[in-house]
Amino acid sequence: MLSITLGFYELKLYKKQCHFLVHFNTFTKTNNSMNLDNLKPKVTEIVSITNESVENRLYNICELLEKNVDYYNWVGFYFKNGDKNELKLGPYVGAPTDHTIIPFGKGICGQVAVSNKNFVVPDVAAQDNYLACSISVKAEIVIPIFINGKNVGQIDIDSNTTNPFTEADEHFLEFVCTKVAEIM
Ligand code: SME
Repeated sequence: MLSITLGFYELKLYKKQCHFLVHFNTFTKTNNSMNLDNLKPKVTEIVSITNESVENRLYNICELLEKNVDYYNWVGFYFKNGDKNELKLGPYVGAPTDHTIIPFGKGICGQVAVSNKNFVVPDVAAQDNYLACSISVKAEIVIPIFINGKNVGQIDIDSNTTNPFTEADEHFLEFVCTKVAEIM
């Protein structure tokens, strides 16, 4: 009798904790999108500093994003390498990567080079066509950069947190890519 009653209360507590976690998650994600919106004027400011090289401005965007969004742990740009069907690593902030050249179609980045679509990966372990940079990476988001409708490159972000990205990240990073396209 006692154990059944105890079990009932334990179950109720567990359900309450889940309820709390759902609300907490919604709350933090709302805060994240507010944080992302606050970064937009800073991105605009960085790209408008025309006496800085494009390279430096791209690096400064990487630094801004990596410093201010706690689940953005590697932030970098890849661009189409001349007329070759491959991507070349541009400015980045985070651990050095072996993937300085990525053939079109390979990995998450190479797939975006051919699909022209955002690619949000909540769990990299569930991907077959994935190029690992570090064992600490759990999730990845890649957003293409277009100039006159042509896919010229992308912003690539790795996260050490599983499933951290929402539509707010996609919208924010699409904004970043539009701003970057203006200075390429
Ligand atoms: N994970 C990427 C490779 C680039 S690193 O994340 C820096 C991919 O699968 O394309």
